[in-house]
Amino acid sequence: MSSALTIEIRPITPPEVPAISALAREIWLASYPGIITQEQIDFMLEQRYGHERLYDDLEDLHKWLDQAFYEGRRVGFAFSEIHKGEFKLDKLYIHPDVQRQGVGGQMIEHVAARARREGYPCLVLAVNKRNEKAIASYKKYGFVVRETVVDDIGRGYVMDDYVMEKKL
Ligand SMILES: CC(C)(COP(=O)(O)OP(=O)(O)OC[C@H]1O[C@@H](n2cnc3c(N)ncnc32)[C@H](O)[C@@H]1OP(=O)(O)O)[C@@H](O)C(=O)NCCC(=O)NCCS
Repeated sequence: MSSALTIEIRPITPPEVPAISALAREIWLASYPGIITQEQIDFMLEQRYGHERLYDDLEDLHKWLDQAFYEGRRVGFAFSEIHKGEFKLDKLYIHPDVQRQGVGGQMIEHVAARARREGYPCLVLAVNKRNEKAIASYKKYGFVVRETVVDDIGRGYVMDDYVMEKKL
């Protein structure tokens, strides 16, 4: 994209965990009302972005936690992992202030390059069926829907997702 913002992508380090947790909360509160309930947002933030959980993720040799900076400001993050024998883009969150300016696309390419280097034939992800913005952006970057899944994530909540894949 010619007008894409110039960003720097760096691995997340343990001292940055509180900042990532806070950024996740900010982006989730701007993105998910209307898609899932506030109770489910709170539950999933605690489950996925609690500090202890993020410290554990950082120690996992099958997970990569990347963050993006624009003009020195942390504006997003992408987590990727080896999941059930496939390379998965597990989380991609870009701050609303800089959305639709090519940051997400650059992070997808960063993760896709890693998956290619690791020898995987495709990159997979799961996205809420009602998250139309995200689905549109994944399609733009070459993902297609492979299947639909409903996953029980505990406490009575489910994730109602499309699994999408991008051939590498
Ligand atoms: C989805 C997301 C990661 C995309 O990142 P981004 O940096 O905004 O995406 P890019 O600028 O690289 O790509 C833009 C494309 O995404 C789609 N898109 C992004 N924002 C959109 C919006 N507000 N309305 C419609 N389409 C949108 C479009 O296809 C757009 O392409 P276009 O501008 O040529 O029409 C980002 O918008 C985001 O973090 N959203 C909120 C959290 C989220 O839903 N994350 C994904 C969870 S699975």
